[in-house]
Amino acid sequence: MTRHLLEIDDLTPAELHQVLDRAVSAHPVQVLEGRGAALIFEKPSNRTRNSTEMAVVELGGHPIYLKPDEVDIDGRESAEDVARTLACYHAVIAARVFDHTVLERMAGAVEIPVVNLLSDLSHPLQAVADLLTMRAEFGADLAGRIVTWVGDYSNVARSLALACAAEGIEVRFACPDGYDPHVDDLARFEAAGSPKVVAGDDPQALVEGAHVVVTDAWYSMGQEAEAAQRRPIFAPYRVDVALMDVAATDAIFLHCLPAHRGEEVTDEVLDGPQSRVWPEAANRLPAARGALEWLLIASEAGR
Ligand code: CP
Ligand code: NVA
Repeated sequence: MTRHLLEIDDLTPAELHQVLDRAVSAHPVQVLEGRGAALIFEKPSNRTRNSTEMAVVELGGHPIYLKPDEVDIDGRESAEDVARTLACYHAVIAARVFDHTVLERMAGAVEIPVVNLLSDLSHPLQAVADLLTMRAEFGADLAGRIVTWVGDYSNVARSLALACAAEGIEVRFACPDGYDPHVDDLARFEAAGSPKVVAGDDPQALVEGAHVVVTDAWYSMGQEAEAAQRRPIFAPYRVDVALMDVAATDAIFLHCLPAHRGEEVTDEVLDGPQSRVWPEAANRLPAARGALEWLLIASEAGR
């Protein structure tokens, strides 16, 4: 059966562990040897494009980057026909899209894995990299740890919360009203295995005792026109040294990057001793490699 990765809970917790284990393997299976991987980007990217291209190479494959105006999903041809065409030449399709349903439509049209490289809803490969970063810090058993998300409840936040829930991590959200998780999502994180899920608008209270403090841009790609309106709303949610001081003494700071220095995080925190943003960025490569390797093997078993 073809397996896709559109959101992190497309994997069971046991499968997620298999992905994490493959990510740190020194001997990746050459599942893409002599085969292609189509990488479609409707938005800019630094980490995701480079880490995914290199992951494909490390699996023996050949990545082909397709820029937005080249494929023009639902403009030049439908998302389904784009996917059907790419499946003629490639073993996997990975895409960064504005509208998550485009990924669902592509996945429904082909019998090769479709991987989400970021959509309006989710960013599962970032969540895999974040778990790898937490494991490096705290060990493989993350159950009972506390992760506090500060700022905008973004695509990255949703996927990270689902990944944390699968690990038995307590998840807290400190988000302004209107930019916070819907109660349905909070219930989803609890159902996914988080021992405790809380949301509120007091960063100091919610960061207290946290082992991981994590944030994202106050306005995501495509929301730049809202920047001026959002800045004063989010200003109390900036992660600074005073906020990190109320976290656990061994707390780390994560950010998917790109960071808007001085907005959601200060230079002192981003460049400070608790920051793990560069190991986190580096972990995007093993995360992508582990996920692609797992998806290809799982999809092709029994064929
Ligand atoms: N974190 C992340 O996805 O970065 P890029 O947008 O540069 O790919
Ligand atoms: N939430 C951000 C993440 C960038 C990696 C965005 O979607 O722009």
